[in-house]
Amino acid sequence: MPIKLSVNVNKFATLRNARGGNNPNVLQVAQDCEHFGADGITVHPRPDERHIRYSDVYAIKKHIQVELNIEGNPLEEKFVQLVLDVVPAQVTLVPDAIGQITSNHGWDTIANKKYLSEILATFKKAGIRTSIFVDPSAAMIAGAKETGTDRIELYTEHYTANYSTNKEVAIQQYIIAAEKANELQLGINAGHDLDLMNLQYFGKHIPQLLEVSIGHALVCDAIYLGLQNTIQLYKRQIHEL
Ligand code: PXP
Repeated sequence: MPIKLSVNVNKFATLRNARGGNNPNVLQVAQDCEHFGADGITVHPRPDERHIRYSDVYAIKKHIQVELNIEGNPLEEKFVQLVLDVVPAQVTLVPDAIGQITSNHGWDTIANKKYLSEILATFKKAGIRTSIFVDPSAAMIAGAKETGTDRIELYTEHYTANYSTNKEVAIQQYIIAAEKANELQLGINAGHDLDLMNLQYFGKHIPQLLEVSIGHALVCDAIYLGLQNTIQLYKRQIHEL
């Protein structure tokens, strides 16, 4: 099975919000991403709605055929309600603080075991596949298994930050983490700062990888290369392994 590319459309919403109008039209962008070959659409609503808005998520779900992945912190009641209303294919729980620029760490799955187990059970009962964002740590992955999640999303910042210095070293802890996840029969997603330079090497060394969600670099590349071309270039990185 080829690795799936889920395009995070938050940055398009950031651009739209800069002027207060509807340009670019985020719903149209999500539909175009699907048309251009994206296997899924990811949104990461935050309480201040500074990029994607809750209303965007309802609209996007209605107008796309590919999988919708909603990311966010379930501590927000509004987030939980949104997920239960929209019923996406997947929810990815991320422990980001209010106002944080972007996610910068995975869950402590041991300290939050009870909380995560309860909230994941709520989503699973609604028929939604669940994933939790974790650092590449065997202990955190073992803890994730205890919560009942279907998948983990590996936080790839450490890999991407060290890729250009020494990619062989940078990938090591991810290989070990993926082996642990496989042993425990957890599905593996990955994301954060993946780009056209570092994506293929990651996919090659984590053969059990199911899905990557990519936003920032893909949107930056689209400025120069165009959205259709960019999506095809990203797909080629993960399909030609
Ligand atoms: N996965 C999670 C949990 C995230 O929070 C983000 C950023 O919102 C991404 C993936 C995508 O990261 P990037 O925008 O760097 O591609």
